Amino acid sequence: MSDGHESQPERDDAAPATTEGRSATSGADGARDASVDGAALLRGRFAGGVHPALDAINRSLPFDRRLWRQDIAGSRAHVRMLGATGILPKDAVANILRGLGLVEREFAEGRFVEHPGDEDVHMAVERRLTELVGDDGKRLHAARSRNDQVATDLRLWLRDASLELVEDVRVVQRRLLDLVARDGEAILPYYTHLQRAQPVLLGHALLAWVEMLESDARGLARTPRECPLGAGAGTGTTFPIDREMTARELGFEAPSPNSLEAVSSRRDACELAFAMACCATTLSRLGADLVLWCGREYGFARLGDAVSTGSSIMPQKRNPDGAELLRAKAVRVSSALAALLELQRGLPLGYHKDLQEDKPALFDAYDTLRQMLAVTDAMLADVRFDAAAMRAAVDDPSGYLLATEIADWLVVRGVSFREAHEATGRLVREAESRGVDLVALPDDVLRAAHPALDPSVRAALTSDAAVAARRAIGGTAPENVRAQLVAWRARIG
Ligand code: ARG
Repeated sequence: MSDGHESQPERDDAAPATTEGRSATSGADGARDASVDGAALLRGRFAGGVHPALDAINRSLPFDRRLWRQDIAGSRAHVRMLGATGILPKDAVANILRGLGLVEREFAEGRFVEHPGDEDVHMAVERRLTELVGDDGKRLHAARSRNDQVATDLRLWLRDASLELVEDVRVVQRRLLDLVARDGEAILPYYTHLQRAQPVLLGHALLAWVEMLESDARGLARTPRECPLGAGAGTGTTFPIDREMTARELGFEAPSPNSLEAVSSRRDACELAFAMACCATTLSRLGADLVLWCGREYGFARLGDAVSTGSSIMPQKRNPDGAELLRAKAVRVSSALAALLELQRGLPLGYHKDLQEDKPALFDAYDTLRQMLAVTDAMLADVRFDAAAMRAAVDDPSGYLLATEIADWLVVRGVSFREAHEATGRLVREAESRGVDLVALPDDVLRAAHPALDPSVRAALTSDAAVAARRAIGGTAPENVRAQLVAWRARIG
């Protein structure tokens, strides 16, 4: 495996477990003990410090410092286990736990001071712990490597991220339900190919977003099952550790069964990245609808002042930048999935520093998606729909959105669908050439198009009738939309 560094402190820490106290360690390691510089903790086998160019590219603290909570939680579980198994003496465990609490407070209160030698969050926490509690801090890393440590931290982070994201999605879903309750019975055109196709209830369209977000939430809710802690650098550890205990304490279902897999796999990260990409894609499409609906050509929706933007030159502009950015930001989120997969493509088994780059991609996707969810919620909280404009677009006589109703009417009277489709097509052509709506065609024209057609078909030719007739499961009938609203409220509030 790549990292010989880790074996150094582990061997140091083996001493107290078998001999007694830490004097032997300090004696052998006197030069290093004088310093608690994070970098020095790792550089025993080198002469001098690290080249600044390498330090700059290698340093992950600027982005992984956000793992401090998870890192400290992992260390707590680890050191408690070291105590329970007798690997570390109880007083050292208590001292380390006390120190971890202090480090945690420093982070939580924004008082944690990073040192130039802190390569990553793991070294920063350990360095500070040692400053605060003395040499006991140096015992924490027994039976552990940063390889299993970072894999554990990351999975804990994925779980926290998953909870936050699902909650954010719920907020947007509830906001959509509020709109269904308020404006759901308005009728607007459903578009295919950006051509007006059939009338649909606004509530049905809004509930479609609720459903899509539900699938996204299901994906986001999947969390890592296995705990990598105890895998060491990749082959396990010589210490009699209790991996069941740490897994349980950290809320995992089980310890990961293979130490090499544990430090190599970023599968859980990919799964969250995929779920985030799906959710961002959903939001990008919702954004696209909002952009269209707010356009003058549609005029179906108007965003409130706080969620609209102006133009630097055209004083009249009222731009839907938030909705446009939903489209664009989704690119960043789905790129993270691509980045994570690419990082691992062709990577030999085991831990490699390449894997450090999983975090910027993942964190960026997470931050971006949360931003997207927040702005979606803000826009939906401050949008007005223009029911008259939507209705006018449905009832525009040149739209022929009710042509399918005629075909269906014929089918109910025994005509094959293909024959009915063709006859209705002829009627549309005739209506178009006369410049009238289908409902305005004279009786003889109806009959000429198909012998089974009679004037009673006109009762089917209103958008309300078209919508009301779609009562089968999943259809846009008002009773369906109302029932769905009730069901969703019961489910997510
Ligand atoms: N900062 C590292 C990362 O994020 C931690 C693991 C370092 N392991 C090592 N063998 N150098 O991946």
